[in-house]
Amino acid sequence: MRFNGPMTAEEKTALAVFLDAAAASLTGGRRRTEALYRFSDDPPPGAETGGGARQALEGLDREIRACAACGLREKRTQAVPGTGAAEPLLLVVGEGPGAEEDARGLPFVGRAGQLLDRMLNSIGLSRETNCYIANVVKCRPPGNRDPLPEEIAACRHFLNRQIAVLKPRAILCAGRFAAQTLLETSEGIGRLRGRFSVYGGGDSGDGFYAEASPGAGIPLLPTYHPSALLRDESLKRPAWEDLKLLRSRLAELSPAYAESAGNSP
Ligand code: URA
Repeated sequence: MRFNGPMTAEEKTALAVFLDAAAASLTGGRRRTEALYRFSDDPPPGAETGGGARQALEGLDREIRACAACGLREKRTQAVPGTGAAEPLLLVVGEGPGAEEDARGLPFVGRAGQLLDRMLNSIGLSRETNCYIANVVKCRPPGNRDPLPEEIAACRHFLNRQIAVLKPRAILCAGRFAAQTLLETSEGIGRLRGRFSVYGGGDSGDGFYAEASPGAGIPLLPTYHPSALLRDESLKRPAWEDLKLLRSRLAELSPAYAESAGNSP
């Protein structure tokens, strides 16, 4: 079966019935009736696809743009909430906006961002279809310095709330800073990359992670920041290894992804 673009209700039913048959044959269990797997092509009430999440993200965007909780507000041009699919497979988390992002209000749009897009595209991902891209801090630290602890503390609830709305299947941390912040560690990126950890989530404010059973966190893969790859070519090979690892994990988590992109060379 091969799906291009969003699946129709008929295709979803066919896929669900197929997966059910496969599960039954592997486990010796009973098959369910096809009637249990009826999908509708009508959008959910009051919404386009992902409408509820999209609305929640728009609310968060407004809050982020109006935020004055730390000193970064004084020097920024504008806040950069994030961009991408409202129900993504993957959330990419960077450090904070740079000069171009600050000017345009969008994350990862400079040279490093263009490389990030190419990296994602190489494994069947994109900010237009199945990824959301955000940063730990939403306003540009002057001179691209690391965000200060008080700036991270003031901003952190926004990322937690974005994660709670997006419910990504996996998180890719672009660079040392994002990885250390999300994993609450001081270990270097060279040791963190190349293996999945589990993101615990913090307090999203709506109980999403509090309700999740312990250990049911989101798989999180740290990798090198694309701007590090631009500075040091030798990091490209390990970064590609990370992308392949990510592709395999996403293929396990999403049959649709496995079918469409997870098997690309
Ligand atoms: N670097 C980041 O970490 N984030 C951006 O949005 C741009 C560059």
